[in-house]
Amino acid sequence: MAFRRLADADAKGKTALVRVDFNVPMADGKVTDDTRLKAALPTIRALSWKGAKVVLLAHFDRPKGKRVPEMSLKPIVAPLAKLWGQPVAFADDCVGPEAEAAIKALPEGGVILLENTRYHAGEEKNDPALAKQIAALGDIYVNDAFSAAHRAHVTTEGLAHLLPAYAGLAMEKELDALEAALGKPKRPVLGIVGGSKVSTKLDLLKNLVGKLDRLAIGGGMANTFLFAQGHEIGASYAEKDMADTAREIIAAAGKSNCELLLPIDIVVAEVMQPGAASRVRGLGQVDEHERILDAGPETVARLAKAMDSSATLIWNGPLGVFEMPPFDKGTVAAAKHAAGLAKAGRIIAVAGGGDTVAALNHAGVTNDFTFISTAGGAFLEWMEGKDLPGVAALEG
Ligand code: 3PG
Repeated sequence: MAFRRLADADAKGKTALVRVDFNVPMADGKVTDDTRLKAALPTIRALSWKGAKVVLLAHFDRPKGKRVPEMSLKPIVAPLAKLWGQPVAFADDCVGPEAEAAIKALPEGGVILLENTRYHAGEEKNDPALAKQIAALGDIYVNDAFSAAHRAHVTTEGLAHLLPAYAGLAMEKELDALEAALGKPKRPVLGIVGGSKVSTKLDLLKNLVGKLDRLAIGGGMANTFLFAQGHEIGASYAEKDMADTAREIIAAAGKSNCELLLPIDIVVAEVMQPGAASRVRGLGQVDEHERILDAGPETVARLAKAMDSSATLIWNGPLGVFEMPPFDKGTVAAAKHAAGLAKAGRIIAVAGGGDTVAALNHAGVTNDFTFISTAGGAFLEWMEGKDLPGVAALEG
């Protein structure tokens, strides 16, 4: 993919405005998962070692243009400084005299975090006046926030048009991995899409059936497909009003020679509770009171076989209610199989999206996948085939 990389930047002695995604989980003012802080370190290090002043721009939550104290980025400073191993300065605003003075006072190679960019209403409006003000604080712009790249905001998009703009190292890694999985993948490519709703993943399914060689559907959304095919699904969750859409997707897959892998057996229970008594059922054997809560062993075995004969795997969404054992079995078994193939270099395995990362963590396989994106909405939009404004602005 042709985008400007950090290696091309002349950063020595410059002030680099670096957009990071520090929209991290927080409880009682403390960061509870520092994955996104760690992800920013390689770019911070690279710029700092070149002698650049590193000015970090980020949003937190959705304050909608107001200063909401609970949405301050200040609680990020201490954990970031600890990970970075050196002091991290902080300015109470991302524009104006205070930010200017704090940046001026920074030594070469120093790092500063500016307060929540979304405290300014202009940020989300991609307001040219705010963009100009922020751009005036630096010499170059580095976007290292793939997970916010689906937003056309001042600090994710606008700045790229005002300063020499580059992808940061985390962004670069992400774009290269995604390109290898869906842009110019090694074939055959197998996709796994799970999760509960067809309605939220319609664009994604439509895009994927045109691009993949095989697509396995799991999770609650598979129930909608089974229902659409006339199978009894008992008391299972399904979007029955999406049955026509599911049939359209089945037809579209047939037209583009994408083999659709729907469950051939399922795990059911009468209640959705951890440890609930469960049974494996064939299609058409689901009783009125039973709910489908996981993929069955034959379905998982067939999926594993499909992985064995694929060169690339792209995965979004769990196969069952993985948060509630024993309904995690299908997802865990499939994830372990994929991880084994990836570790042995037999498949490129890329996964992403909120629940997916949690499911793969639960399966204990995150280190063996080729790449796992921590992006939520941006990963989905990318899988839907949409242009991400934050990425498009770095192209060329
Ligand atoms: C995220 O956490 O997915 C990104 O930071 C985007 O946040 P947003 O959905 O509030 O724009």
